[in-house]
Amino acid sequence: MACRLVILASGTGTIAQAIIDAHELDIEVVAVLSDQVASQVLERARTAGIPNECIPVGNSRNQWNSEIIEKTAAFEPDLVVSAGFMRILPPDFVHRFPTINIHPSLLPDFPGAHAVRDALAAGVLTTGSTVHWVDAGVDTGPIITQMQVPVLPGDDEITLHERIKKIERGLMVTTIALILPTLEQHV
Ligand code: GAR
Repeated sequence: MACRLVILASGTGTIAQAIIDAHELDIEVVAVLSDQVASQVLERARTAGIPNECIPVGNSRNQWNSEIIEKTAAFEPDLVVSAGFMRILPPDFVHRFPTINIHPSLLPDFPGAHAVRDALAAGVLTTGSTVHWVDAGVDTGPIITQMQVPVLPGDDEITLHERIKKIERGLMVTTIALILPTLEQHV
């Protein structure tokens, strides 16, 4: 049986699109959930005929925490993939659903929301991307895969992030392929 996968994303969703297009994987993307109503990733889901929903963070963070758990649970995922989802997931979420996240740095270096900017500011010559299991911390869970990306002379946050994103699509698809057999034991 195909692995039931829920994607969480906030923005343009190029990594989500790579997962949706990865027909070689034994997965079914059962839902795309976003916290941003205008995010392009929801449009991508609609185009692909995948159920999608926006769960905006309103006044109550507690309510959002319950809602994201409830709505994700309704799709009975075997795996949740955070692909450019710019929210911290509540501990109850990550304890309940096996969840992976992709982050645009070589963790444990440069966790948080401004990884590319922080890497540039630190003057590193090499950065990259990490796919890791999500735990209750911020970008602290066990690392599954990493790929290095060089920082080139003249790079700014946009050019460097675009170069990282080019390799993140393949890295995410490869990582899902890598962990799928281990997930099947849990289903
Ligand atoms: C990716 O670079 C991903 O690593 C990053 O958001 C981008 C999403 O791109 N995630 C984070 O920064 C999470 N802390 P996309 O919207 O084009 O898929």
